[in-house]
Amino acid sequence: MRTLLLLCLCVSAAWAQANDYDDYDSDPKAAKTGTDAPATIGARGHRPLAASRDTYTPKRVSPPPISGGARYRGRPTPAPARGQQQQEKERPREEGGCTHAAEEMGILCPNGCELKTTLLKQERNVKTSINELKPQVEDLARSSNTVHTYVNSISNSLRERQRLGTDNSRVVSQYTDQVEEQHVYIKETVDTVFPSNIRVLQGVLDKIRLKIQKLEKAIQGQREECKEPCRTKCPIPVVSGKECEEIFRRGGRDSQMYLIQPDAFYPPYKVFCDQTTQNGGWLLVQNRLDGSVDFGRRWDEYRRGFGNIAFDVGKGQCETPGEYWLGNDRISQMTKMGPTEVLIEMEDWTGAKVHAKYRQFTIQSETSNYVLAVEGYSGNAGNGFLEGSSELFGVNRTMTIHNGMMFSTYDRDNDNWIPGDPSKQCAREDGGGWWYNRCHTANPNGRYYIGGAYTRKMAKHGTDDGVVWMNWKGSWYSLKAISMKIRPFFAPS
Ligand SMILES: *[C@@H]1O[C@H](CO)[C@@H](O)[C@H](O)[C@H]1NC(C)=O
Repeated sequence: MRTLLLLCLCVSAAWAQANDYDDYDSDPKAAKTGTDAPATIGARGHRPLAASRDTYTPKRVSPPPISGGARYRGRPTPAPARGQQQQEKERPREEGGCTHAAEEMGILCPNGCELKTTLLKQERNVKTSINELKPQVEDLARSSNTVHTYVNSISNSLRERQRLGTDNSRVVSQYTDQVEEQHVYIKETVDTVFPSNIRVLQGVLDKIRLKIQKLEKAIQGQREECKEPCRTKCPIPVVSGKECEEIFRRGGRDSQMYLIQPDAFYPPYKVFCDQTTQNGGWLLVQNRLDGSVDFGRRWDEYRRGFGNIAFDVGKGQCETPGEYWLGNDRISQMTKMGPTEVLIEMEDWTGAKVHAKYRQFTIQSETSNYVLAVEGYSGNAGNGFLEGSSELFGVNRTMTIHNGMMFSTYDRDNDNWIPGDPSKQCAREDGGGWWYNRCHTANPNGRYYIGGAYTRKMAKHGTDDGVVWMNWKGSWYSLKAISMKIRPFFAPS
């Protein structure tokens, strides 16, 4: 009985945990730091040397040089006037449901994805409950078997008594006593053991019923959603290519979602192409604009990518990008196809905009933990990737350079802040996956703070974990929007 209750407790505990994916929040240090900090100003991107034996080794990985020349010559002709080329749209068959839910196609239907997640979670829990239920049912079956045996034996006894009753009243009374004893035993079993077993089972059943109700509700919601053709889906433009630059050259001049296939051996996937900024051809690899997507994610998620590629806000095409991370494998693969440039654009909460551009941008593969290499800065946001934070000096500034760093997430620590010490992890404190050093000058994947200015006290770990670009707004201002776009580098024609 006690074990049964324990099992039930375990079930509910597991249920509670399943919802708590953000498990790095439970870091006990979180409460400690950030309480006694009076000032909310001042640079914080680095982690200064604390004790005398604390040393900083500016470990930096130089990636191999990029092979080959540019894959593209300059744009052959000036862009034809917009509207000349017509863009056919291929509307995939929709059976009231959400297509393109396959991960490799990009995730476009948030409702469908929600349902999928819910279903998977619920399935896990229902399975556990059913497993718990099994031994109890067996128990019950055993008990009823015992009862059955006793009832049989009583019947036998009664028959025996009837046979003997006529001529042996002494024996009869003896048997009667035995029968009475057995009757008491059965009564006890039926009155106490059974009800408690049944109560436990009832509890488990109630839990399962609740879960099933939740599922039914989710399915009902989905059904309502899908009565109309799914609005979150995007028609896929017919024009496609290896990447956005090729799409541009093939006439895809609208900024919207496209299907690209950089490598013939892998299935195509969806990306957002910016075909207007700085002559277009840009593939969006990172985007923050409203805090709708959580960027505090695991290594695997950063490897595969996450978020929403684009939305159709009623114009019949997906021309509004969502918040997403393309995925380290894809970014790496794209940048290794040939010389690639990166454009980082950002906006503050008053609408002011600046940008940083690197003429060369490569991400190594997962076996080298996606080492970042940039070169050839231009722009007006500040050269943080190569020079670190301009608010800091000496080794403090060196600690904030991102060039040559490996990628880190809260569950995979590759930064330069006392490697191997689990309490010294930049990704844990600063909110997202990034090429952390010790720790950052830029933190585009940090936590999204509405309004811009935030304080140490508001931060989970007392660190500047916002969407930060120190060389523009300092540590304690979280940007409204930031994006990273890549394009094959080619000499301007
Ligand atoms: C580095 O930062 C620490 C604390 O912020 C400060 O005490 C130290 O003077 C700084 N070093 C340099 C070279 O600026």
